[in-house]
Amino acid sequence: MERELALEFVRVTEAAAIAAGRLMGRGDKTGADQVAVDAMRNMLDSVNIRGTVVIGEGEMDEAPMLYIGEAIGTGDGVPVDIAVDPLEGTNLVSKGMPGAIAVMAVAPAGHLLHAPDMYMEKIITGPAGRGVIDLDSPIEDNLDRLAKSSGKSISDLTAVVLDRERHYDVIRRMRQKGARIKLITDGDVSPAIATGFPESGVDLLIGIGGAPEGVIAAAAIKCLGGEMQARLMPDDDEQRARMQAMGLVEGALLGLDDLVKGQDVLYVATAITDGDIMHGVRYGPVYCTTHSIVMRSRTGTIRFVKAMHRLDLKEGAHGNVRDEEEQAIHG
Ligand code: FBP
Repeated sequence: MERELALEFVRVTEAAAIAAGRLMGRGDKTGADQVAVDAMRNMLDSVNIRGTVVIGEGEMDEAPMLYIGEAIGTGDGVPVDIAVDPLEGTNLVSKGMPGAIAVMAVAPAGHLLHAPDMYMEKIITGPAGRGVIDLDSPIEDNLDRLAKSSGKSISDLTAVVLDRERHYDVIRRMRQKGARIKLITDGDVSPAIATGFPESGVDLLIGIGGAPEGVIAAAAIKCLGGEMQARLMPDDDEQRARMQAMGLVEGALLGLDDLVKGQDVLYVATAITDGDIMHGVRYGPVYCTTHSIVMRSRTGTIRFVKAMHRLDLKEGAHGNVRDEEEQAIHG
């Protein structure tokens, strides 16, 4: 994929974030999602790609836009798979809580796991966990090994877990082991990415969340050189049938390469509300400011893009960028 595409995609996630951020704290998660979807869909039309949505807003009969299988872009260029989540963390935006992002991942066609909308068990870390963590091992062993490979004591490790009853046992066991725990109400993609940034203070994400979110997180973890293992968790026969139709075996352990094939994936996200590594959208009288992250697995470059959008020159949900501040962490 051409590297120029990365900045095209930032415009897409910025547009979704600017639109959804306006509805922060309004208690309207459906409305916030809708404006994010509309903004993202509009911007995608102008991008020079032959894209197909493989993870999106649902099946064609459930979602009018960004449905699975929808053709995206101008139709030029190489065929690519697109995974989108215009508003990851609908409850977070509706309540004005941290961690909501507009996010997408792009890879050559056939390289992203077309994960059905079901649950996925996940364990995710930054580079310290490579070859170290194991979803099938007890959490106590994973903490021991991660502490050793990160040069920390267990009491210095912070694990993020969705605050759900299904996680009470793992939470209890991590507490007994002495790890620090950050319970989140929604939105497990942001903290998954945070594991790749030591300054975020997040070392590990563990637990059961959405499978589509798992694939999007895997794209970022691949760019960050981190580690992830996962397992799809079908709830009923319909979900089992969907898995089988996709050639996926129930119970199979999925590694990073099963979730995202190859070394050519792009991950782009714009913060809607404040998060561990980025500020959310700020609206001023003249400009609104966005913070985004753009990563390419091929080079491992991580860019933070701060953009100021002139509100009076805004077309639809998107403004003109006055200033882009890019910081390459490594290349
Ligand atoms: P939204 O689709 O409402 O944005 O929720 C996303 C999310 O919080 C994911 O981040 C997470 O993986 C999943 O939902 C958790 O699902 P559940 O709320 O059913 O436990």
